[in-house]
Amino acid sequence: MLSNKYLLGFFVVTFLFLSFDNNNQYFLTIPKGFPNLQIPEDNKLTNERIHLGKKLFFDNILSRDSSISCASCHKPDHAFTDGLKKAVGIKNRSVTRNTPTLTNIAYNKNFLRDGVNPSLEAQVLVPIHEKNEFDFHILLAAERLKKKPSYVQLFEKAYGGIPTPKLITKAIASYERTLISGNSRYDQYIYQNKKHALSSSEKKGLKLFNKLYCVSCHSGFNFSNGEIVNNGLYEKYEDVGKMRVSLKEIDNGCFKVPTLRNIALTAPYMHDGSIQTLEEVIDHYMQGGNSHPNKHPFIKPFSLDKSDRKNLVLFLKSLTDSSFATIQ
Ligand code: HEC
Ligand code: HEC
Repeated sequence: MLSNKYLLGFFVVTFLFLSFDNNNQYFLTIPKGFPNLQIPEDNKLTNERIHLGKKLFFDNILSRDSSISCASCHKPDHAFTDGLKKAVGIKNRSVTRNTPTLTNIAYNKNFLRDGVNPSLEAQVLVPIHEKNEFDFHILLAAERLKKKPSYVQLFEKAYGGIPTPKLITKAIASYERTLISGNSRYDQYIYQNKKHALSSSEKKGLKLFNKLYCVSCHSGFNFSNGEIVNNGLYEKYEDVGKMRVSLKEIDNGCFKVPTLRNIALTAPYMHDGSIQTLEEVIDHYMQGGNSHPNKHPFIKPFSLDKSDRKNLVLFLKSLTDSSFATIQ
């Protein structure tokens, strides 16, 4: 049998180990009305990991010519978009799609406009390798970081290792998981019981949003059911969406239902930035979109008078979380 002395030693060591682990772990503040967030077992959040990921996100070091960073396109004051029709990468190369918001990105089940990427960690590789974005290689990026003593130290603190491709993706994903936005006036009205947080026009707009079919796709706390569907933007799509990867005609023109949170900050709209204003988005849906064999059956024409069209837009604008737009 173990003597008491050994047992005590065992408990002390276990306790020290556990408390070290707990001290480091970072607990996200989940807004009222939001579900809990699943964080991958092998990439738990800690302050050190988030700090490193944030530094990488804002650093030009990951692009081939060290000219741009993730934040060049995902700008915090635009809810992590860039205000451009289509994104522009290194050497002014144009990207084929509009930069999506990273609002509540940790809740997404799939990534990219067509949802073909399965994890936030794996998604980090896309802009680094993409010719029109960073035009670099993750192995070369890791080599570059290894030569910077400050980064070597930060990787050591965050993950107990030197900069590697895997750790770069883990650190950036950790930072992205903190980009949670749930304090718009809509949230205050719905979840925080502040009855006057929305004006009467905005409340009318909310009713319309629910009564029309919008809420069938832009559903739940994050205004997205996560599905990849065709919303009738075109009769013929230049960018075939999910079909790009699946090669199935049924996926032609299918894109992820985007969140509508912070929508007032993320113009222009749609996968190609082809719609400039929210008023024009409403007009698109009012006319029932364009006819396309894959157009989702929910999308049908409806009519709104001038004041209701305005109320619907005002409601969409109430989804702006000003505290999120000023996070750095
Ligand atoms: C040149 C502009 C540009 C740069 C630089 C850039 N992105 Fe993006 N990002 C985009 C565009 C455009 C898309 C949509 C691409 C698509 O759907 O194919 C996107 C998509 C994403 C998505 C998926 C969003 C969703 O809704 O599924 C994430 C996450 C993301 N980027 C993170 C990053 C990170 C991290 C970096 C830096 C390592 C980065 N981006 C660099 C333009 C950029
Ligand atoms: C069948 C599902 C569906 C329905 C119903 C629907 N949407 Fe959408 N919505 C989408 C998809 C998919 C996109 C993205 C299309 C793209 O990227 O080209 C989108 C895009 C948008 C955008 C632009 C978002 C951005 O970040 O670019 C707004 C705003 C919007 N919808 C509002 C509405 C409103 C208001 C209604 C109701 C009148 C509505 N939607 C009904 C699927 C739907």
